Amino acid sequence: MNKYSNTLDAIETASVEELRELQFRRMKWTLEHAYKNSPMYTKKFDEAGVHPSDFKCLEDINKFPYTTKQDLRDNYPFNSFAVPMEDVARIHASSGTTGQPTVVGYTQNDIDTWANIVARSIRAAGGSAKDLIHISYGYGLFTGGLGAHYGAERLGAAVIPMSGGQTEKQVQLIEDFKPTIIMVTPSYCLNLLDKLEEHYGGDASGCSLKVGIFGAEPWSNEMRKEIERRLGIVALDIYGLSEVMGPGVAMECAETKDGPTIWEDHFYPEIIDPVTGNVMPDGEHGELVFTSLTKEALPIIRYRTRDLTRLLPGTARTMRRMDKITGRSDDMLIIRGVNVFPSQIEEQILQIEELSPHYQLEVIRKGNLDHLVVLLEAKDNVYLDQSEMITKRLQHQIKSMIGISTTIDLLPVNGIPRSDGKAVRVRDLRPKE
Ligand code: DLL
Repeated sequence: MNKYSNTLDAIETASVEELRELQFRRMKWTLEHAYKNSPMYTKKFDEAGVHPSDFKCLEDINKFPYTTKQDLRDNYPFNSFAVPMEDVARIHASSGTTGQPTVVGYTQNDIDTWANIVARSIRAAGGSAKDLIHISYGYGLFTGGLGAHYGAERLGAAVIPMSGGQTEKQVQLIEDFKPTIIMVTPSYCLNLLDKLEEHYGGDASGCSLKVGIFGAEPWSNEMRKEIERRLGIVALDIYGLSEVMGPGVAMECAETKDGPTIWEDHFYPEIIDPVTGNVMPDGEHGELVFTSLTKEALPIIRYRTRDLTRLLPGTARTMRRMDKITGRSDDMLIIRGVNVFPSQIEEQILQIEELSPHYQLEVIRKGNLDHLVVLLEAKDNVYLDQSEMITKRLQHQIKSMIGISTTIDLLPVNGIPRSDGKAVRVRDLRPKE
């Protein structure tokens, strides 16, 4: 079967009314299925005093309670599932920082749906059965590798299941196999890029790659430009999270390159005020919330992603888009009262010619106040001689654009630890209370 050859799915260009009607039917099914079959949702709906029969139009979704990561943790490992284990075909988990992983499950139909939407996503990036796709997202419990893999296969493309790490080998295989598309986290791509440039005598822009599908972590538009220039590719944004499915919940279309289109026939988005929990109109910034519309093993109702963005009208497709993620509410730093996301610092770093795009932030305590240390690398060790000038420039830019004072620590090339997957951007070195 090669369902995803060239033409768009009818729903990608259907009218908004048709899309809303489909969403209504699917959401009704999801609420009934979740309430009837998932012990977690039976309890949550009962406690909130709501019943699937209260759902009479799409807006009624706001009568239903939010789901949080904590709900999934409290129902560890399988109490959130809405099908018996004999119908579960795959399990993934996200590691999380607190030790206990968040577990998600898929039926064979779920795996199929997921493969279809990832195939749709790669096609939106301009990919087809003719492509050779190098996948550097990690394979395993993380949804990145296998999610991308099944989608690429469904499209009919040839797949190189490389996973993360073994950077030198990746370079060799890119040279030898000549893939046309790479799927990788932006931070691991930077790591790979350094090695590719070494291999190609300083310029990797002539390598076989034409398109990059980047996601799993925030990355700024400045980072996009840097990667596109150095690798000679078009870089597009893929979004997703394991609790909702994995990669492919939303994908940026190559023809407009204006933020990921949410595959709304499978995932219904809302934006809420992260503090009050009130629903906000399209166009306003807030926390992204998703309800799955077709998932069987783990239907998810109003899942609070913690990702901050806004909903924008559809352009290349009928479905709405999301703006590039500014960051996660968990990653927001508050430095002397100013809210700062790592991606804002990233934008400033990338504007300085002498700096490499590798960076890390440390939050320390100075007296009673929090203070930000920006650890950076010079693009070449010769620039270390100009360290004072570069440091002053960046401090000035961050102060005028973001409004905070920082300490800058300029390190020699390779001074910042490299990532194989998602980069660790922030280290909290404040004394524990
Ligand atoms: O990161 C799934 C994925 C794999 C997406 C590969 C794209 C590519 P989790 O490990 O559950 O799943 O982490 C989900 O990663 O809530 C966001 O905070 C962040 N994230 C994912 N994609 C993007 C993106 C995968 N394009 C969490 N931009 C999400 C910004 C992203 N952040």
